[in-house]
Amino acid sequence: MSLPGDIPMPERFADLKRALLPADDEGKKKFVQAWEDVLAALKAKAKEVENAKETSEIIPIVEFADLNKISKDEMERIKRVGTVIIRNVVGDAQATAWKEELKAHVKSNPVEGIPENDKQFFMLYWTRPQVQARADPNILATTVWLNHLYNTSSSSGDSDVQSVLKDVKLNTPLTYADRFRIRHPGNKWDQHPPHIDGGGIERWEDANFRSCFADILEGNWRKHDPYALEGRLNAKISLYKRANQASVFRTFQGWLALSETGPGLGTLKVFPDVQLSNAYLIMRPFFRPKEKQVTEDPLDAENWELDTSTPEFPGIFASPSSFRGPRLIPPSHPHMQLPITMTSCPHVNPGDMVFWHCDVVHSVEVDHVGVDDSAVMYIPAVPSTKQNEEYLIRQLESFKQGIPPPDFPRTVVPEGGWDGTGVEKDVTTEIGKRAMGFAY
Ligand SMILES: [Fe+2]
Repeated sequence: MSLPGDIPMPERFADLKRALLPADDEGKKKFVQAWEDVLAALKAKAKEVENAKETSEIIPIVEFADLNKISKDEMERIKRVGTVIIRNVVGDAQATAWKEELKAHVKSNPVEGIPENDKQFFMLYWTRPQVQARADPNILATTVWLNHLYNTSSSSGDSDVQSVLKDVKLNTPLTYADRFRIRHPGNKWDQHPPHIDGGGIERWEDANFRSCFADILEGNWRKHDPYALEGRLNAKISLYKRANQASVFRTFQGWLALSETGPGLGTLKVFPDVQLSNAYLIMRPFFRPKEKQVTEDPLDAENWELDTSTPEFPGIFASPSSFRGPRLIPPSHPHMQLPITMTSCPHVNPGDMVFWHCDVVHSVEVDHVGVDDSAVMYIPAVPSTKQNEEYLIRQLESFKQGIPPPDFPRTVVPEGGWDGTGVEKDVTTEIGKRAMGFAY
């Protein structure tokens, strides 16, 4: 997974590891016990996924119309898995019409996309269907529902934390302009192996971001709450200004299906337990395989030992100016048994949405063995926070200019002014205007 230009991790990261590990023997012992517990839980998770007959047994599915009547148990399941399918958020006909409009748009304009010779993933942010979909009241209501899976309670006496939490408005959804894809059948897609968005080495390096994982670092991974907002809002998720790195806080990433898609049709795959994958990811750099294996099974906890002598953070890759990752592959994260546990999202129809928590390990199926295009528009859940509102102002300016939003690389030809590019009057709903930043 390393690329030309990658360099060894700087030595200071070995110091960071040593600083983060509990200092006393009792604390270290507890940390090792927690690691063993995580490995056992990962083994059980792989069995559970392997034994499921359908991926819908693993990934929860709810109806948009039922969002307010979901049982407490089901809510807990959704939170634990970290991914949810929400059916019929918009009508089938509307979603299909958006897809047809996008297909015509990319044919008649000088669009940028990849792969260059058969574009399927488009560097377009402001087409009319995207602008309209982001302002859709049902889509925005869905993102509010998702925002509310997070909790704003705080155990911190820190006045900074308190004041940031006070500014969060989970009921006020904001837009985050992203792109769309229209994937053709038959193509191989290896651009998105298992990874996590929204911060890499920052998860350990930035004190605020790290505080989200404090329970894990203290050996209490079962107490870790991926939905605690405290810590996330002040987190610096982009310390090294990487391109394509979201600088806003998204509670969930998501997409709207514009066509049918499902297992084998080039859809999204996820690791279906966000608390567990967080625990393993965060603890993994502190352990290494023993030089001499004690038992035959290389995954056996007995074959692993605590080690903070190297600066390596498996899954994080250093270049002279920045860091990539986390990227998770079997050699670096063997206990996740990714070939088994990465679960394809169940079949969806146009108008259904898929959302995954910002820490969820996800990938895109390499193969699409169907016969039709698989099209999705990326639409995450973004609550109003101080940092997000600041981004919204800059994003609105890029909409007015018809250029890519601030988080994204510039395109050669801006899309503003093209036939079919969205304009202000395409945002017709009050909630949509607010979400775009036109009205407060
Ligand atoms: Fe991603």
